[in-house]
Amino acid sequence: MTGQAEGAPVTLAVTGASGAPYAVRLLEVLNGLGVPVRLIISKTGWRLLREEEGIEDEAALRARTGDWSRVLRYDDADRGATPASGSAASRGMVVCPCSMGTLASIAQGTSRSLIERAADVALKERRPLILVPRETPYSVLHLENMLRLSRAGAVVLPASPGFYHRPRTIAELVDFIVARILAHLGIEAEIGPRWKSGERE
Ligand SMILES: Cc1cc2nc3c(=O)[nH]c(=O)nc-3n(C[C@H](O)[C@H](O)[C@H](O)COP(=O)(O)O)c2cc1C
Repeated sequence: MTGQAEGAPVTLAVTGASGAPYAVRLLEVLNGLGVPVRLIISKTGWRLLREEEGIEDEAALRARTGDWSRVLRYDDADRGATPASGSAASRGMVVCPCSMGTLASIAQGTSRSLIERAADVALKERRPLILVPRETPYSVLHLENMLRLSRAGAVVLPASPGFYHRPRTIAELVDFIVARILAHLGIEAEIGPRWKSGERE
């Protein structure tokens, strides 16, 4: 994976839903491709990184996710940081995983954290906003919020990997979702199941 995706940064937000392995792998792949990343991790996002991946701090995250020369990390409490600005060039934003709390806030346009504000900006600027929720089952409120966001232009991409490619490892399940996220950002990466002449590989 080399530099095919240079250009404006992707904003990657990590929130406190189960699914930290998706975030770690997504950051690793973006770094491997040389895609600039603006990284924002909520307080509970850090907790899930710790509980699910044993990642305690930025140093541990760096050690797991390759070349950080194009990564800029922002404090989720800093609502005035670059990702909060519509005039800052961006190729889109991914919230992965996306908690139902953050999803609800984005659906209401509350902008009370940098993550919420950056998502609000992505919507108003008509840039890709990909939300990767993880909850089961969904309540009516969850579903209404997702419908509202989908109508507003976001892509709701649940962390629901398929099994038709017969995954045998957690890494394969993770890559299934990461490949779908990258496809929605218009980024090609040679991961996840491949399609050939109408058949599933
Ligand atoms: C261990 C743990 C697991 C959680 N798993 C989920 C989850 O899968 N989905 C979800 O929507 N919220 C989950 N939550 C709840 C959110 O973390 C909580 O609503 C939090 O306020 C979200 O804040 P954030 O979106 O700013 O990270 C979990 C919380 C903890 C502590």
